[in-house]
Amino acid sequence: MGMKEMLEDIRCKFEEKVSESQELSQLEELRVAFLGKKGELTGVLRGMGQLSAEERPVVGQMANEVRAFMEGKLAARKEELAAKALDEKLAKEALDVTMPGKTRAKGSLHPINQISDEMKDLFIGMGYEIADGPEIEYDYYNFEALNLPEGHPARDTQDTFYITEKMLLRTQTSSVQIHVMENKKPPIRIICPGKVYRADNMDATHSPIFHQIEGLVVDKGVTMGDLKGTLEVYARHMFGPETKIRLRPHHFPFTEPSAEVDVSCWACGGKGCRVCKGEGWIEVLGCGMVHPDVLKRCGIDPKEYSGFAFGIGIERTAMARFGVTDLRQFFEGDARFLSQF
Ligand code: DAH
Repeated sequence: MGMKEMLEDIRCKFEEKVSESQELSQLEELRVAFLGKKGELTGVLRGMGQLSAEERPVVGQMANEVRAFMEGKLAARKEELAAKALDEKLAKEALDVTMPGKTRAKGSLHPINQISDEMKDLFIGMGYEIADGPEIEYDYYNFEALNLPEGHPARDTQDTFYITEKMLLRTQTSSVQIHVMENKKPPIRIICPGKVYRADNMDATHSPIFHQIEGLVVDKGVTMGDLKGTLEVYARHMFGPETKIRLRPHHFPFTEPSAEVDVSCWACGGKGCRVCKGEGWIEVLGCGMVHPDVLKRCGIDPKEYSGFAFGIGIERTAMARFGVTDLRQFFEGDARFLSQF
């Protein structure tokens, strides 16, 4: 084979291999194999010395053309492969911006807090201040100062957890009345939302821990009429504008007179249904006129001042509002239950 044929042969072989190549690294291998120091083209050029003087420039020119051709092919294929690699990479990394993202479940206010906040808003609107008191309480504030001396039978209904003989977990927010009246002179207008404790077993309507909201108003000339008017506003706000209230005589040691308050049933409007057990009325709170002895004990003269007080169960109100029939659900922390409110 003459040198021209050999050059043509190399050119064809190279062209075929380059067009078959799929990787940039293969191109580099081909460059070394054909155009490198020990490459095929270089090998042929080395044999040029044996050519005649006429043939040498002709073959030389042809060799240069073949080299230029090969370099051109390499560069073109390199560009093609780079473009292909980029396309593949883009296809692999493609992002569907219409896919839904990962979302984090949003929490919400506990139903007990929702009801408590609503009650606070209402009373703050009527000029009340929020008062606070300790959950670990002296016997004195929880019982004695509220006319429940040691051995008083009414203590039996509010058995609690004792820390020492004289310290306990408060059974009612009424204890805060005493703290407030010891520290502030009338006019007093406060509410106190908070946790209370009783040694009760847990069932659908009882829990050893629950929440109350206490109200206390002391001023000159405060009457039972003021109490009733206040509770009417409260009942209409919480249970609907058509709600009626009814005061039933009752006994609480720290108020005189005392009453339990019923509201007309929010489910049937008073006709009688399953919710009110056919009664038409549902009991929602206890209240009364602050007992003169309680005022006196706190250094407030009952001849000059009078007051009313009330205590509302928050769980009971939340159960009514949300149609919950088992109190325990409020304390289980199950998000499937809580996310409904
Ligand atoms: N502390 C009472 C209870 O837990 C509720 C109560 C009744 C509070 C009458 C009062 C009140 O302030 O005047 O059963």
